[in-house]
Amino acid sequence: MLANMEHEIYRQIEETKLLPLYTATDLAYLDRLEEILVRNEVRFIEVTFRSSLATDAIKKLAQSGELVVGAGTVRTLKEAKSAITNGAKFIVSPAIVPEVIEYCIEQNVPVFPGTATPRDIQLATEYGIKVVKFFPADIYGGLKAINALSGPFYDVKFLPTGGINPENFMEYIQNEHIIAVGGSFIISEAIIKKDNGNTADKILKTLVDKIRS
Ligand code: 3PG
Repeated sequence: MLANMEHEIYRQIEETKLLPLYTATDLAYLDRLEEILVRNEVRFIEVTFRSSLATDAIKKLAQSGELVVGAGTVRTLKEAKSAITNGAKFIVSPAIVPEVIEYCIEQNVPVFPGTATPRDIQLATEYGIKVVKFFPADIYGGLKAINALSGPFYDVKFLPTGGINPENFMEYIQNEHIIAVGGSFIISEAIIKKDNGNTADKILKTLVDKIRS
């Protein structure tokens, strides 16, 4: 059984409040990505298995050691193994994937399984998991759903993703049941590409300043 709130990573994510979700289609942008995140004191990145470069990107960022690197969109045991072997320190899935959860528990690596219903959350808690991803947050009822689910699941914290944006993210992170918000609105390869990261840096700075104010 993994009492997953005990892991240091949860405390750090809760402090940062933002978990950037990043899909790499070109490794050349990783240095700039890292620089922007470090400058803004967001020391986390979730690299998704939505491109063939996921493992290479995880490896490169993990070797550099500036960020706590995790893997996202982990739907198979093979991806979980590849991510962890190459330096991923946490795993995020879009759903409950038993073999991924079991492997993470075995490896003592925090895992955020994707949930949307009471049944999903119940399944996660049966593994001892106390922090779940809530996805896709906007479609499954957003804050209203999280508040309702927190009635019976009073001991669970949520990481909402999907449809979180610069306009609504503060409402989410101010909610006591929410550990942090995740998503591609925080930073993306497309936005870095635009002007060598200048806009990406500005956007992230605005988000971070809002959290601190
Ligand atoms: C996820 O997998 O968490 C979502 O696809 C993130 O959604 P977003 O890109 O709309 O933030």
